[in-house]
Amino acid sequence: MRIFVSGASGNVGKTLVRTIMKLDWPELVGGWCKETGEDLGELAGIGTIGIKATDDLKAGIEASNPDIVIDFSATPVLPGNLRLYAEKSLNAVIGTTGLTDEDLAPFVKEVKEKGLRWAVIPNYGLGITLVMDFIKKVRGYYPYISIIDRHFPGMANAPSGTAASLAKASSGGEAQVASKEVYPGVLGAKISDIPVFSQRMPWPGPYSEHEVLLGRQDEIIRISVQDHTSDIYMDGVFLTVKKLPKMAPGTFVRELSDIIEAN
Ligand SMILES: NC(=O)c1ccc[n+]([C@@H]2O[C@H](COP(=O)([O-])OP(=O)(O)OC[C@H]3O[C@@H](n4cnc5c(N)ncnc54)[C@H](O)[C@@H]3O)[C@@H](O)[C@H]2O)c1
Repeated sequence: MRIFVSGASGNVGKTLVRTIMKLDWPELVGGWCKETGEDLGELAGIGTIGIKATDDLKAGIEASNPDIVIDFSATPVLPGNLRLYAEKSLNAVIGTTGLTDEDLAPFVKEVKEKGLRWAVIPNYGLGITLVMDFIKKVRGYYPYISIIDRHFPGMANAPSGTAASLAKASSGGEAQVASKEVYPGVLGAKISDIPVFSQRMPWPGPYSEHEVLLGRQDEIIRISVQDHTSDIYMDGVFLTVKKLPKMAPGTFVRELSDIIEAN
């Protein structure tokens, strides 16, 4: 399978390049990023591989003739990139975040009309996806729930997008606690009625943690997912790259769970 990587010099992009070069079934045919003319292997820290980066996405795609594109670039450039993938009738695995359902609606229509297959998934992390599925399954039995996200102090947003997604996916039937908030916010910010806490500490190295506590009478389940590098997205991304082309034409996937469950 011929793969083109958009955002090839980024944190995730470099990991994608290293992973493709390690696997025996996909072939890296090109990459788009700001470092035009530089070798993609050099950028990824694995030495020269003889494939140069380009900052001209259209020319890069036309020259390399990929079967599928993987995009982990940046929110402002994403709409233009998506337009080009649709024009070129490419199947696409998109990790870049920041577009709303309304922004994506015209692309959903075009993917359907053209019989393409796209995945635009906000979190390719296998661990957090499986935990989310578990929470959806057991939530009805556990009226108490609390979500904590732990990140480094420079983290752009609080809570993390993942913590907000976890809260939205868990909404409904939250038990009320009797405690009165003596200080505002001490019981957590409420997202879809679910209390969410963000803690920012100088954890060593790249670090992201999501902890979920579920409670019912006399029982607490405590789940913690701790992620340390962009490698944690690779299983989810390449499972998608493998399964997506076998899915029905016009498929537009929004959750990794749908890929996990697909044959
Ligand atoms: N879906 C997921 O599971 C998931 C996981 C991690 C990150 N992300 C998202 O993926 C995106 C990339 O994350 P990152 O941490 O790798 O970002 P990054 O800033 O490290 O990398 C961005 C890449 O895009 C390229 N790029 C940006 N603007 C460009 C332009 N105008 N021309 C050419 N190249 C351009 C950069 O050169 C770089 O290669 C972000 O939107 C992030 O939120 C999603």
